[in-house]
Amino acid sequence: MFPYKTSLHINRKSKEPLFLQLTNQFIHLIKEGKIPSGTKLIGTRSLAELLQVHRKTIVACYEELAMQGWLETIPKKGTFVPENLPLLKSEDYKGNKVSDNIDQIGFSYYKSNLPGKTIEKEEGWLYVNDGVSDGRLTPTEDLAKIYRRISARKNITKHLGYISTQGNEQLRSVLANYLNETRGLTISKDHILITRGSQMGIWLSAQLLLKEEDIIVVGETNYASADITFLHQGAKVLRVPVDENGIDTVALEKICESQQIKGVYVTSHHHHPTTVTLSAERRICLLNLAKKHSFAIIEDDYDYDFNYNHAPILPLASHDVHHNVIYIGSVCKTVAPVFRVGYLIADKEFVNEASQVRGFVDRQGDALQELTFAEFIKSGDLDRHIRKVLKVYEKRRDLFCNLLKEELSEFFSFNKPKGGMAVWLTLNKKYTWNQVSDIAKKYKLAIGNVSRYDMAKTNHNAIRMGFATFNEEELYELIKRMKFTMKDLVNQEKSV
Ligand SMILES: Cc1ncc(COP(=O)(O)O)c(C=O)c1O
Repeated sequence: MFPYKTSLHINRKSKEPLFLQLTNQFIHLIKEGKIPSGTKLIGTRSLAELLQVHRKTIVACYEELAMQGWLETIPKKGTFVPENLPLLKSEDYKGNKVSDNIDQIGFSYYKSNLPGKTIEKEEGWLYVNDGVSDGRLTPTEDLAKIYRRISARKNITKHLGYISTQGNEQLRSVLANYLNETRGLTISKDHILITRGSQMGIWLSAQLLLKEEDIIVVGETNYASADITFLHQGAKVLRVPVDENGIDTVALEKICESQQIKGVYVTSHHHHPTTVTLSAERRICLLNLAKKHSFAIIEDDYDYDFNYNHAPILPLASHDVHHNVIYIGSVCKTVAPVFRVGYLIADKEFVNEASQVRGFVDRQGDALQELTFAEFIKSGDLDRHIRKVLKVYEKRRDLFCNLLKEELSEFFSFNKPKGGMAVWLTLNKKYTWNQVSDIAKKYKLAIGNVSRYDMAKTNHNAIRMGFATFNEEELYELIKRMKFTMKDLVNQEKSV
C-alpha cells in the first residue's frame, strides 16, 4: 500500500484548511507519478484514522480532488486516480533529475535590452535624481479625502467597470478648461487622451508616428527615455545641437531640406537635460518648419508649472494653428510620480487612434484616481499646491546653487536654472562622472547612471542634479558628501 502516513503531512498551525493541505499534497504526488494513474485510493475512513483527522476532512479533500479532475469515483468500486493521466516529467530521457530552479526559464523570448530603472533604496543614502518632487510635500491627505468622498457616492459603480480607453470624461472636461486657461490652449475634452503619465504619451506618439527607419529629430542632449523609446520603435534618431536657446532650428531646417522627417521631440519649456528654454524665435521657426515639411512636434511639457523668475512660457501647442503639435504632460512631476495621471493632446482623429492603441497595452486608466484629480484641479487645490511648493523649491534651488558655487566651484560649473527641479552640472574635464559616482558610494551618495545624459556620446561631462527632493538639511549633507568625494578624487589623482 502507498505509504500515506509518511507521505502526507499535516500542519495544524497553518492557516490553510487541513483538507486543502492534503489536497495539494495529493496533487503533487499524482503529478510526480508517485501515486500512478489507475491507483485505487485508500478509503476515507481508513485515511482519516491513519492521519488522525476527522473523516469529513478526507471527504472534503477527495471531493476537491475529484472536482479538479485528479480523482474519479467508480460506484461500488472505489476512488481512483484516472487512467492515462500524463506525468509532469521531472526527469529527462536518461532518467536524470531535471533542475526545478524557478529562475531557469523554460522558453525563449525576445530581450529588449532596455536599460533597467528600478532602484532599491537603502536607509542613510542620498539618491541624486534628475528633478523629482518632494514626497513630503505631496497633498496625500487632501487627495485621499477626495478619493474617499468619490468612492462613497451612490453612482460610483458606473465607474468601476470597463470604461473608455480615452480616460474619464469628467477629468477630460476639467483638464480642457484648466489647460485652456493656464496654457493658452483652445481644446475640448475630445482632444485629450488621459494617459498614465508623460512616458505613455511619448510611447503612444512613437507607436503612431514611427516605423522602421523613419526619422525623428531630437536635441543632441535629450531625455534618454524618449531616445530609447524612439530607437526601440526602430526609428532613426537624428540629433541637432542644443545651446542656451534650446534646440538649433537652423540645423533642423538643413535636415528637413534633404530628407523627410516624421517628428521632432522637444522639451520646450525647460530642455531636458540642460534646463534651457526654447526661445520665442525658435518656437516660431519650429512651428513653421513643421507646417512646411509636414512633421509632428512631440512637445513634452513635463515641468510647465515650475518657473522661478518669470511667468510660464506658453507651450508651442498654444500657437499650433496648423495642428502639428502632440502636447504631452502629467501630474507626475507637479504632484508626485506615483499618481499616474497624464495627458496626450492632439487632433481628435489622432487622439482616437492613440486611445485605440493604448487599449492594447493598458486597457484603461484608473477612473477613481482620474475623478479624484478632476476634483483636485477643479477646486483650485492643484493651483494652491503648485503655489506652495514653488516657494519651497525656489529656496532649495537658491541654496543648492549657492552651496555649489561656494563649496565646489573648482570642480563644477553651471547656470542657475530659471525653472524646473534640477541643475545641469558640468564637471571639470580632468575628471569623469563615473569616477565621481564610484567614490561617492563610499559616502552613501548614489549618483545613478550618468551615461543616460550622453546618449549621443559628445562627452559633455555634465549630469542633471535634482534639488527639489531635498530639504535644507539634506542639501547641506549632499554638498558635504560631494566635497568628501571630490577630495578623495583629487587625492586619488595625485597618487597616480
Ligand atoms: C523630460 C521628461 N519627460 C517625461 C518624463 C516621464 O514623466 P511621467 O512620470 O509623467 O511619465 C520625465 C520623467 O522624469 C521627464 O523628465
